[in-house]
Amino acid sequence: MVRLSAFAVCLVELLVHASSYCTAFDDAGCSGQSVVRDSSIWKAAPDKYDQPGGPEGLTTMTQLNNIIMGHAATQIILAGSQLGLFEFLHENGPQTKGTIEEALGLKRSDGSTRPIEVLLLGSTSIGLTVLDKREKTYRNCEIIDRLFTTGGWRSIADLIDLEAIIKYKGEFHFVESLRKDTNVGLQEWPGAADNLYSRLPQTPGAQKIFYDLMNSFTAFSIPCLSNTSKVAATSFKLLDVGGGAAVAAIHLAKKFQQLSITLWDQHETIEIPMNHITKAGLKGRISLLAGSFITDPFPEAGSHDAVLLSHQAVIWSKSVLLMIFKCVLNSSMMRGFHYAEIVTEFYKRFDKTQILLVKFEDLVKDTEKTVRQIFDFLCVDSTVPLPSLNKIQPEDVLDIAMGEHTSTVSDSEKKLLQEYFHDRNQKFSEVMGLPIGELFCWSMPKK
Ligand SMILES: C[S@@+](CC[C@H](N)C(=O)[O-])C[C@H]1O[C@@H](n2cnc3c(N)ncnc32)[C@H](O)[C@@H]1O
Repeated sequence: MVRLSAFAVCLVELLVHASSYCTAFDDAGCSGQSVVRDSSIWKAAPDKYDQPGGPEGLTTMTQLNNIIMGHAATQIILAGSQLGLFEFLHENGPQTKGTIEEALGLKRSDGSTRPIEVLLLGSTSIGLTVLDKREKTYRNCEIIDRLFTTGGWRSIADLIDLEAIIKYKGEFHFVESLRKDTNVGLQEWPGAADNLYSRLPQTPGAQKIFYDLMNSFTAFSIPCLSNTSKVAATSFKLLDVGGGAAVAAIHLAKKFQQLSITLWDQHETIEIPMNHITKAGLKGRISLLAGSFITDPFPEAGSHDAVLLSHQAVIWSKSVLLMIFKCVLNSSMMRGFHYAEIVTEFYKRFDKTQILLVKFEDLVKDTEKTVRQIFDFLCVDSTVPLPSLNKIQPEDVLDIAMGEHTSTVSDSEKKLLQEYFHDRNQKFSEVMGLPIGELFCWSMPKK
């Protein structure tokens, strides 16, 4: 019996583009927006014990209070941003309460100074502004001033808007969401769609807030990927799944001249990338696919040789992600082709040291050893403790029967399969430079 499952080609073409805000980048991105250039003010994933109070967690009532009053802090920074407090102080240096009140348009005809006092008390008590008690003046804290100087404030202001305006609404339903394990907060947004992205257009201004922030982040992160990714540099057809406003697609198309891109996003949002692509003069290089990658079928196998999932891994549940990865794999150049063709395509694009080929039998027989070998290849710690892997049945995942199941194939079917695979396996052996016996755990019958 010719075993269809002899090899699993280690996935190299899938670009899971997670947010990597920790790395400085050498390119301003394609959107022309200001982005944070000083990477030291960003920290990516917190260190293991990088939490208030160290490894023991919170240690003071003040820290606890800051969490309980977190809603106030969010609204104070929103007010400071939207009323122009931080911008005014950055441009003018330390200022008195009266001058700030005037500049922010908070001066009242009835003489009440409460609004400016509440704002400055709030912003100073949480450290956004600093009061010089002798001079009776206020200035920005250092980090905010530094953001203005480095050009990063715009991105932070976008982030504040998203958190304090868009996300804030849904937070009222957080407890209920946990109880019901669903996005209960969606009811805050008019519309019938089952996701926030599709409902945002029905609330004036909301979609802009989302994409302003998204675009700032992507303009910051995509150069990190494009500067190092051999996949992006060598692919010809890239599928940008949930490509948003096309910030990533435009950047990649400009940087890699050989690349054509299909951007896939929902019907309700597709006009946004369309406008950006047209403005960038890239209509011939970036095409649009309107629809849902959750409910619509993925493009057919081999139609793209790379898939970009930019800022997707962070928004989906594990089960949805697994479903997406499975579809990506099925529509990639690894499905619908024979081993020799797949390996040839990979060897064209990558150095052999960048590809790991794993025998499917090895994965089944000694899952842990094989998984650790993959970890080693990916340069991640291969000595980490792993959960029990003896429950993993790769056959279940791949719908492929191993061992005795093959005995149900009749002799004539076996012959047919042997004939079909004979030349292809021969070719595979040539491409790999290895005898068939080392590639498969059966010997190939004579034709
Ligand atoms: C977090 S944003 C990322 C946008 C873009 N990839 C980037 O990095 O800037 C998620 C994007 O996925 C799109 N999206 C969400 N669910 C989708 C679905 N089921 N089908 C197609 N697009 C979807 C949203 O409209 C949104 O543009």
